[in-house]
Amino acid sequence: MNRSSVAIYPGSFDPVTNGHLDIIQRGSRIFGKVIIAVLRNQRKNPFFSVAERTEMLARAIEPLENVEVARFNGLLVNFAREMKAGVVIRGLRAVTDFDYEFQLALMNRRLEKEVETIFLMPSAEYSYLSSSQIKEVVSLGGSVKGLVPDFVEQELLGKLEKSGQKPRIS
Ligand code: PNS
Repeated sequence: MNRSSVAIYPGSFDPVTNGHLDIIQRGSRIFGKVIIAVLRNQRKNPFFSVAERTEMLARAIEPLENVEVARFNGLLVNFAREMKAGVVIRGLRAVTDFDYEFQLALMNRRLEKEVETIFLMPSAEYSYLSSSQIKEVVSLGGSVKGLVPDFVEQELLGKLEKSGQKPRIS
């Protein structure tokens, strides 16, 4: 497959939201193959382990034939080279994302000029959605129905219970 038809969609996915899935579906309609790349070692203290995050993603993308999930360490552009991918997909929700995404895209271009970053906008109903917000709402007893797949909501509740942090039901 040509490098420009293989795209990487990198992120923390802690956990995957319907906003991510919206971007993945859009990407899968444009590119021949989309590889979701879950960052293994990160400074943020993740809620779910990398194995749990990968499993949830794999389950959520099951119906999409040209999408797969992988894990990566180190520089994203090195992973893109390894996967023979010429494109990095990032979701842009609102203007507030722009500064960070601009820095990331230009640094990646400096590191590897053959990899192009493209931005996709999710459906407006997900334009305010983030994994951090999902975790906060669930931990405070709110419902995230319709914002993450149902099984992800169950995983979140299960994780909170295991950690002894029973969610408060409002
Ligand atoms: O979901 P996130 O946390 O916004 O994703 C950020 C991610 C994983 C795309 C970014 O942190 C990344 O690519 N990290 C790998 C290290 C790297 O390549 N850094 C150089 C660009 S600044």
